[in-house]
Amino acid sequence: MAKKSKTVFVCQECGYESSKWMGQCVCGAWNSFVEEKVLPELKEDTRRRASARDARPSALKSVGTLSYERIDTGIGELNRVLGGGIVKGSLTLISGEPGIGKSTIIIQTAANIASRGLKVLYVSGEESEEQIRLRADRVCSEIPGTLFVLAETNMENVEAVCGEMKPDFLIVDSIQTMYSGELDSAPGSISQVRQTGNQLMRLGKTGNMPIFIVAHVTKSGDLAGPKTVEHLVDCVLNFTGERDQELRILRSYKNRFGTTSEIGAFMMEGTGLTEVTDISATFLENSGENAEGSVTTAIYEGSRPVMFEIQSLVTPASGMGFSRRTSVGIDNTRLSMIIAVMEKKAGLPLGGQDIYVNVVGGIRPEGTGTDLAVALAIFSSFKRVTPDSRTLALGEVGLTGDLRPVRNAEKIVKEAARLGYERIIMPASNADKLKDSLKGCMIAGVRNINEAIRAFGAK
Ligand code: TYD
Ligand code: MG
Repeated sequence: MAKKSKTVFVCQECGYESSKWMGQCVCGAWNSFVEEKVLPELKEDTRRRASARDARPSALKSVGTLSYERIDTGIGELNRVLGGGIVKGSLTLISGEPGIGKSTIIIQTAANIASRGLKVLYVSGEESEEQIRLRADRVCSEIPGTLFVLAETNMENVEAVCGEMKPDFLIVDSIQTMYSGELDSAPGSISQVRQTGNQLMRLGKTGNMPIFIVAHVTKSGDLAGPKTVEHLVDCVLNFTGERDQELRILRSYKNRFGTTSEIGAFMMEGTGLTEVTDISATFLENSGENAEGSVTTAIYEGSRPVMFEIQSLVTPASGMGFSRRTSVGIDNTRLSMIIAVMEKKAGLPLGGQDIYVNVVGGIRPEGTGTDLAVALAIFSSFKRVTPDSRTLALGEVGLTGDLRPVRNAEKIVKEAARLGYERIIMPASNADKLKDSLKGCMIAGVRNINEAIRAFGAK
């Protein structure tokens, strides 16, 4: 039978496939369908697998374990996020907004690895070889002889070069610029991303070669196209930060060889990215000063506590009959909930007030351990109480006004004492469990929001 080429319509936002064109996709995106050819290879692959006779299950107990061989990237913070370096044969996706510093961290990593005599190939579909050289001159102390660049967008050519050169480490910047000659669709389309992602996976696994793949995210912060290769890769790292600030945070969302709770912190400077190793105190803006509406709190990220400041401004509402609640860095619904608890349980008349809350330093804390600091910052601004800057507040605020414990409180307390905090207001349930007494640091264990406000006001 003659092979008929079949086409499907693929949503470019989420990868949903439909036999007919649709105006709106099931993911909610409008006008996102593009007609694409069905990949014939994928079907053959499945058929071959289905007919395999030699597939035998093994008892999990009898399966041997292996320790992964890792390559040191020469960047401690990157090693930490990866779980101790790059695992041989692994595929890592580095995502982030354009201009955040993906190419910079990658050229620094490439130069570090190549300086140990390993062959590194940097394939770029975004920049010319001269542009890469210019950046390397700025950020690398020396350019090793085993660091190779290739400005190329055709995946088959990349495969051929790799077959010949057999690099120890491959970088592809970015997946959205790569295309396979076997497909008609444009680079960056879902089917091209999926196809080139598959080709890269085969390339890496057959040669036991680790690969870094750069992926751009959309304005809303989603991976869009590259989301379709997320399941193929072993690690997904996300690089974030405010472009007008120097701080950059590297976080892992998926890691087959380590935890996803570690973060790496960097500063973008004139000579590239430098590591921030003492992260605990990096985010404190005006530590040492007492400022109205500002309360310091901490969260536990990976294996380290991070201290930062929450600022709030409460002013009489200017809008007619409606008040603004704006937050930067924390969830807006969480803020509304905290405000409601403050009104009802602590009796603060916040109804006619505009309330702004900001997390200083561009950090985006996840979780609820910062609730109490938000509540106290609002209280401080509203009542014009100047807090002592040597005070730290921890705790989740419940709808009843009770305080719930935070995780890793003991480690946070120890780090706070080291940094010179004199008083820590925290849930009594946490405080009761603290074993070691701390020199020069007073712990105020409180059960609810009212007790916390009392402890906060009493200096
Ligand atoms: P880049 O790594 O090209 O970002 P991406 O690959 O994620 O798009 O970094 C781009 C920005 O970083 C650029 O706007 C300038 C800034 N930068 C520095 O501040 N210092 C440096 O040493 C380098 C190389 C870049
Ligand atoms: Mg780039």
